[in-house]
Amino acid sequence: MKVDGIPRRSIQLAADGETVEIVDQTLLPHRFETRRLATLEDAATAIRDMRVRGAPLIGATAAYGLCFAVRDDPSLASIENACAALRATRPTAVNLGWALDDMKARMLALDETGRARAAFARAAEICDEDVAINAAIGENGLGLLRSAADRRTGPVNVLTHCNAGWLATVDGGTALAPVYGAHDSGIDVHVWVDETRPRNQGAGLTAWELAAHGVPHTVIVDNAGGHLMREGRVDLCITGTDRTCANGDVCNKIGTYLKALAASDNGVPFYVALPGPTIDWTAESGAELPIEERGGDEVSTATGETETGEVRTVRLTPAASPVFNPAFDVTPARLVTALITERGIAEASEEGLLSLYPERRRAAAG
Ligand code: MRU
Repeated sequence: MKVDGIPRRSIQLAADGETVEIVDQTLLPHRFETRRLATLEDAATAIRDMRVRGAPLIGATAAYGLCFAVRDDPSLASIENACAALRATRPTAVNLGWALDDMKARMLALDETGRARAAFARAAEICDEDVAINAAIGENGLGLLRSAADRRTGPVNVLTHCNAGWLATVDGGTALAPVYGAHDSGIDVHVWVDETRPRNQGAGLTAWELAAHGVPHTVIVDNAGGHLMREGRVDLCITGTDRTCANGDVCNKIGTYLKALAASDNGVPFYVALPGPTIDWTAESGAELPIEERGGDEVSTATGETETGEVRTVRLTPAASPVFNPAFDVTPARLVTALITERGIAEASEEGLLSLYPERRRAAAG
């Protein structure tokens, strides 16, 4: 992704080689600012406060958080303490636990003197792997948009929910990777962007990055998707996922399930794009997944820019009214047309996933 013509990632190692720069996503779309993370606490706070968010980026940031802890103290106690602190930041995106387990296993195989160097090397690899995975998802999903373009005149209309683009990953995005690929290869594509209340990752982040890349798009309220599908104005939906179960159920930003229901009722294909590390092979179905509940202020308030350029938060609800704020929901596999992964496209089912990741079949059998 380029910002003002300069290629950059959502998280990247700073010139000093021991701190990282992130894009502060809480300030977008009003201001583009980067922040430096240098300590375990910096990384944990950035994840908890959603300065970084999106399953793959949360995993990459947690990996660097563990690096900072190991750099300061490479003991087993320090590693365990750091993993516990990072794991407690956000419960739903499985990439967080995946990255920590991967890093921890590698650290413990080494003596203390080699751990910090190995940790930074592995965190960089996790970032590079994410970029490569997303590029492959983009290539695999491109055919779906190409076929949709061949079947119609005018733009292919894609509906997406939340932000599963460049900003949710190290670079490239998952759900948006095929969209960028289609746009770059000359396919006329237009994106309906769900605003994605309460934090507006669609209105603020997806719209911002699509605009930066020059992809035609329109922001809609979350309740508009069903109406547009009934009117035949959506060719396909593509979303991301924070955790994919072994049976193909997917857990993604709250509201994804309603879009899948509307898509099913209207015969609109509903695709979910995911990197391998988002699959939780230990979760048999969505019923087992931890759903993050966030603070009520996200529902009772909204933040935006005034005409004078000031960013302000205002109250929307009566002060006395209670609010409830589950951040994710589960879309059952039966509502998902197919999963788009770095290894190809498969049915959203245990068999479908195992056909792409056959080593898991052997792991389960052994
Ligand atoms: O709460 P967020 O903003 O971290 O939620 C992000 C999403 O739900 C994304 O769709 C998901 O992480 C997939 S990102 C590639």
